[in-house]
Amino acid sequence: GGAMDTRRRACEAARTSLDRRKSMSNVAPSSPEKLAAGNWKMNGTSADLSILETIIRDLAPEAGAGALICPPATLLSAAAHLSKATPLRIGAQNCHEAATGAHTGDISAEMLRDAGATHVIVGHSERRTDHGETDDAVRAKAEAAQRAGLTAIVCVGETEDEREAGRQIEVVTSQLAGSLPDGATADRTIIAYEPVWAIGTGKAATPADIAEIHGAIRSALSTRFGAQGSAMSLLYGGSVKPANAAEIFAVENVDGALIGGAS
Ligand code: PGA
Repeated sequence: GGAMDTRRRACEAARTSLDRRKSMSNVAPSSPEKLAAGNWKMNGTSADLSILETIIRDLAPEAGAGALICPPATLLSAAAHLSKATPLRIGAQNCHEAATGAHTGDISAEMLRDAGATHVIVGHSERRTDHGETDDAVRAKAEAAQRAGLTAIVCVGETEDEREAGRQIEVVTSQLAGSLPDGATADRTIIAYEPVWAIGTGKAATPADIAEIHGAIRSALSTRFGAQGSAMSLLYGGSVKPANAAEIFAVENVDGALIGGAS
């Protein structure tokens, strides 16, 4: 339907602008990977899997930017099956910190990997808010992802009140410090800066706001993790759509996007 068309176009716009940037610069292997990631949140049933076929068909084989879709857990297996032997990768939206055990309703990182996921989002603001996930909890989930061989997409972002108080850098760097495990590596860690006030509101952060925060994140990562921190991908998320994707990807230290509503 219309929503799915918009999703596909946003993903395409994201990847096209990322590809263009990559081909312009002569990127060293240690540079952050470019990635367009779609977060379907609690949306999608098996009838929506056909969108993946469209995405796969539209993926250029030589594309510089990776493509990832994070469907709800119920669709992971089927999505992974559909995208097998294609460049499209499939991620989950959350995991439990333990590998197995008496945790009714939860899913471990090992189970997600078994279902075909390569990535898992941890600490999305909707989980921090709806489920009270703290930085400590998010760090445990990121550790679980690494233990299972998944790449963790660790989300951080300030609220509107925090930004109005001028505390955005302090809030984001403190979340980052608390949410990342020691020894995090670039091949298993992606950071998503998602200001809470920009998620699902249609009001994306400006390129200047994004440049400020992504610069602060990059410098915190480099200080803590050295070369690994310099090579971690930094995604922006929050109301990314076809109309603003290109200007957001042109921002320094933006390596891609996490796209909700428009994915
Ligand atoms: P949005 O969501 O693109 O709908 O703003 C982004 C996200 O929550 O990852």
